Amino acid sequence: MIEPVYSPSAERYERMAYKRSGRSGIQIPALALGLWQNFGSHKPFQDIKAMAHYAFDNGICHFDLANNYGPEYGTAEENFGRLMEQSFRPYRDEMLISTKAGWDMWPGPYGNWGSRKYLMASLDQSLRRMKLDYVDIFYSHRHDPETPIEETMQALVDIVRQGKALYVGLSRYPLEKARKAMKYLADHDVPCLLYQDRFNIIDRAPDRGGQVDLCAETGSGFISFSPLQQGLLTGRYLDGIPADSRMARAGSLRKEVLTPELLEALRSLNAVAAERGQSLAQMALSWLMADKRVTSVIIGASSVAQIEDDLKALGNVEFSEEELREIDRLSKPHWL
Ligand SMILES: NC(=O)c1ccc[n+]([C@@H]2O[C@H](COP(=O)([O-])OP(=O)(O)OC[C@H]3O[C@@H](n4cnc5c(N)ncnc54)[C@H](OP(=O)(O)O)[C@@H]3O)[C@@H](O)[C@H]2O)c1
Repeated sequence: MIEPVYSPSAERYERMAYKRSGRSGIQIPALALGLWQNFGSHKPFQDIKAMAHYAFDNGICHFDLANNYGPEYGTAEENFGRLMEQSFRPYRDEMLISTKAGWDMWPGPYGNWGSRKYLMASLDQSLRRMKLDYVDIFYSHRHDPETPIEETMQALVDIVRQGKALYVGLSRYPLEKARKAMKYLADHDVPCLLYQDRFNIIDRAPDRGGQVDLCAETGSGFISFSPLQQGLLTGRYLDGIPADSRMARAGSLRKEVLTPELLEALRSLNAVAAERGQSLAQMALSWLMADKRVTSVIIGASSVAQIEDDLKALGNVEFSEEELREIDRLSKPHWL
């Protein structure tokens, strides 16, 4: 059977809110789609395609990848390359596509951390897998305590000069390292477009650690990953651990984190969400969208229905002082 040619919804940009990333020319959709866990070789390509198309049809034009997303390192990028060939190519200029290097990717001393050699080679590989000439944003995926920060940052600067990325970003840097890295980039006329870290109702590390405020101060955007704390901040685990859930797969979300105390707090947060007419997932996303310092939020999803649910967060991003106080009270003991 010949598949119909993909034609995105004409209303896609009316369905999404866009926010400027720091002091840049780039606007970013309030929700971005991350391809960390559910877009690799283990997932049927039809499912991947359905989620990616649904996202783009709803104005999610930012796709966040990394060299080692899969599982099976590289396979999320390969699948994105298939999407590029099969449906997305005509819309390339409407898309903001990011990738990263910094975590383990291939064996030996040149397939991990922050050396110039690793970053340069990794981006070349990512471009080949994704069938792209350039990415919009290339990130240093984590701070490398052993490599001089100047080496890592100069590699980012040169990558932009080579035309292989239009912008650069940083992910998970300790505060003072982030400050130093951002200064280096700005001094070389390649300002940090986005800083990426995990920030959500129950994990406020970059807020308490100062990175969110640093972005506001330096003019970088801030983008939150794992806004649903990998699914904990949804209805997914309120009545047990579903067999098809991330926690059941025993990977990045360990069963031990779901203590009776956390479960009780999640149930109470769910009740606050219900009062607001939202699912817990929607409230968790709205809570981040309501923070003026947050540019965008990268969701993960294992089905179209989840993306559909998450998108409804856009409809209710106002919180009363009382609601905010109650959310703080319920989640505070669990702030990581
Ligand atoms: N820079 C970094 O170091 C870094 C680290 C981690 C992630 N990231 C980026 O952030 C992206 C998002 O991370 P994440 O996947 O952890 O994000 P997340 O949005 O916190 O969690 C996504 C998971 O939550 C569940 N979910 C989503 N919507 C739901 C809904 N409406 N109802 C019920 N369950 C729902 C699904 O779990 P099930 O799979 O169980 O269905 C989904 O896979 C990644 O893809 C990646 O791009 C970056």
